[in-house]
Amino acid sequence: MIALGIEGTAWSLSIGVVDEKEVLALKSDPYIPKEGGIHPREASQHHAERIGSLFEKIFSEVRPDSIDIVAFSQGPGMGPCLRVVATAARVLALKLGKPLVGVNHCLAHVEVGRWKAKAKNPVTLYVSGGNSQVIARRGEHYRVFGETLDIGIGNALDKLARYMGLKHPGGPRIEELAKDGKHYYELPYVVKGMDFSFSGMVTAAQRLYNSVAIEDVAFSFQETAFAMLTEVTERALAYLNLDEVLLVGGVGANSRLQEMLKTMCEDRNARFYAPPKELMGDNGAMIAYTGLLMYTHGYETPVEESAVRPDFRIEDVEIRWD
Ligand code: ATP
Ligand code: FE2
Repeated sequence: MIALGIEGTAWSLSIGVVDEKEVLALKSDPYIPKEGGIHPREASQHHAERIGSLFEKIFSEVRPDSIDIVAFSQGPGMGPCLRVVATAARVLALKLGKPLVGVNHCLAHVEVGRWKAKAKNPVTLYVSGGNSQVIARRGEHYRVFGETLDIGIGNALDKLARYMGLKHPGGPRIEELAKDGKHYYELPYVVKGMDFSFSGMVTAAQRLYNSVAIEDVAFSFQETAFAMLTEVTERALAYLNLDEVLLVGGVGANSRLQEMLKTMCEDRNARFYAPPKELMGDNGAMIAYTGLLMYTHGYETPVEESAVRPDFRIEDVEIRWD
């Protein structure tokens, strides 16, 4: 079976085609703001303008009549962006005469990670711009055991980077600078129960930037924030008595975060997994794969139920597969 998936919850616009075994095609055309953060309206205009040519690129590699289902990111995300994607998916499904499957974006990050990294029953640390969650399967649902109380770690990195005059996306730039950091400056370490918070840290780091080297700000920020994420992931492992950690989401590309999680896993005799980099951040292949998984387990989204779900939670999906 072959599935086409469209991702477009925020800045990323991406179309992927997969079968049960592999990614057959993947094309992306991200919206990059000229300055400042992401404006939902501008991002959605970008998606509307570019989605046609992205389809052309995909269909130069796979034949439209080979597609069996059309999957799309139904939420969570920015309403205007989600609507462009849902409309395109409905039109394509109708045109091809194939079923439509609405996919939860967070679930797609987890499932593509399990698929390509071959983790069975992991504690997943999902870290992206808008989301930061510690997730594990309990029975027929995924549960969120810990999450950010304010902004996602990626947005925190991007916000700090912007303040320090760096270009968007800021995460990779902070990672580079942090490698040359020499002094650690204390920043607010905020873990409450199993939840964490980053906005106080951003404010404190911005203050720090006015008096110390930018490399040290980047280094101190990463060390503090990633230690918080590692601590909560470790506590979930211990509490649930699991022995696998899966890292997904755009921030998962960060080598310092990977290193901290690996060390923690070694200390606990657990295994660390991460999908290839191109499947870590937002991508159409993760939507296609999860749509395929859902469809083969009885899911289909009739057009009248295909309205976007900006607040869609991973817990809302019944998981019918192993
Ligand atoms: P979601 O909708 O799931 O919140 P997203 O729209 O934020 O996802 P992702 O591709 O999952 O998209 O993540 C993007 C984030 O990842 C950005 O905030 C970016 O700065 C961050 N990022 C990318 N590479 C790195 C890196 N090497 N280190 C730290 N952060 C990174
Ligand atoms: Fe994402």
